[in-house]
Amino acid sequence: MSANAETQAGKGNVFLRNCWYVAAWDHELIDGKLLRRTLLGEHVLLYRGESGRTVALADRCCHRGVPLSMGRLEGDCVRCMYHGLKFDATGKCIQIPGQDMLPAAMRARSYPVVVKGHVVWIWMGDPAGADPALIIDFPYLSDPAWKGLPSYMHYQANYLLIVDNLSDFSHLAFVHTNTLGGSEEYAYVTKPMNIEKLERGFGMERWHHDAEPPPFHRRVIPDKTGKLDRRNSFEMHIPGIFLMKTLFSPAGSGLTEGLDRGVRQYRNCQFMTPETERTTHFFWTYLNDFEGDDSTISHSLLASLIEGFMEDKALIEAQQRDLETDPDFPMLAIRADAPLTHFRRTLTKLIAAEQGQVNASARPGQ
Ligand code: FES
Ligand SMILES: [Fe+2]
Repeated sequence: MSANAETQAGKGNVFLRNCWYVAAWDHELIDGKLLRRTLLGEHVLLYRGESGRTVALADRCCHRGVPLSMGRLEGDCVRCMYHGLKFDATGKCIQIPGQDMLPAAMRARSYPVVVKGHVVWIWMGDPAGADPALIIDFPYLSDPAWKGLPSYMHYQANYLLIVDNLSDFSHLAFVHTNTLGGSEEYAYVTKPMNIEKLERGFGMERWHHDAEPPPFHRRVIPDKTGKLDRRNSFEMHIPGIFLMKTLFSPAGSGLTEGLDRGVRQYRNCQFMTPETERTTHFFWTYLNDFEGDDSTISHSLLASLIEGFMEDKALIEAQQRDLETDPDFPMLAIRADAPLTHFRRTLTKLIAAEQGQVNASARPGQ
């Protein structure tokens, strides 16, 4: 694949399968909901059985192909409500009304799932490799000291365009001047620092000293005018897992030296899961450590972040539409693109290696 192709969306794209993706927030599966969600182009049924077990099955009855999500939850099983075949949590057909013989081939594919930190993780590849230890830990999601509201957005764009967006925070200055960024100055005076190429991603940080509080933060703090030092540090991991720590401290109060004099902190995760090559499930939450009993802070942050993310969404979906009409458009890189280029190259290599393995194992006589 050429360097240009690596930086474009949807060109000969295949997905990495042997890795954990976010399929849902756990609250989406409450009250026996049979949730149909397309992931990596496959229709998946997600539910929590009555024992509390979380299940992911191919959302297609092996009889006549009706979606199992149109069926009925029975304990930890699901019954197709066309001719009544019943499937257990492993996808095995355990009942065919009017027929005693249950052929072994009558089953729905099941996918490994793990619920951790309110996130439902799914493994879309070879189940033998689905090691829960490979799920990247973000302990704030289950730590009651961190408050926030889990959220979801649907994108009409390839997931890697959202990864690109999050890879360069200079966009805060121009896309989010009046929401998340605060000023165009952010792009000129702040520089990415400590850029770290990881085996499966990258990390970096960005400081903004002596800055006006950006609007989303100003809304939830008592001092609306005092200048602040701001530190963002984040990691992006394959396949599309973004984890960020943000600290605000009164300007000059010693944040650079690691002093905690009035520091307010956020922890933010954003998970990009391909729905199809040109659409994406975007899960995120923005946690804070200072609201105490005042949950209006979480609600204000949620509203601000939606406002900000809608700015990204408008731009990225327009980008997707135009790239589709001219897939050979040669994007030209600037220095700030080095991390996203590293990310895309690494992902391309992993996908090629995975495809090579699949092809080798499919060869006759091997
Ligand atoms: S299609 Fe599901 S039971 Fe017939
Ligand atoms: Fe953005």
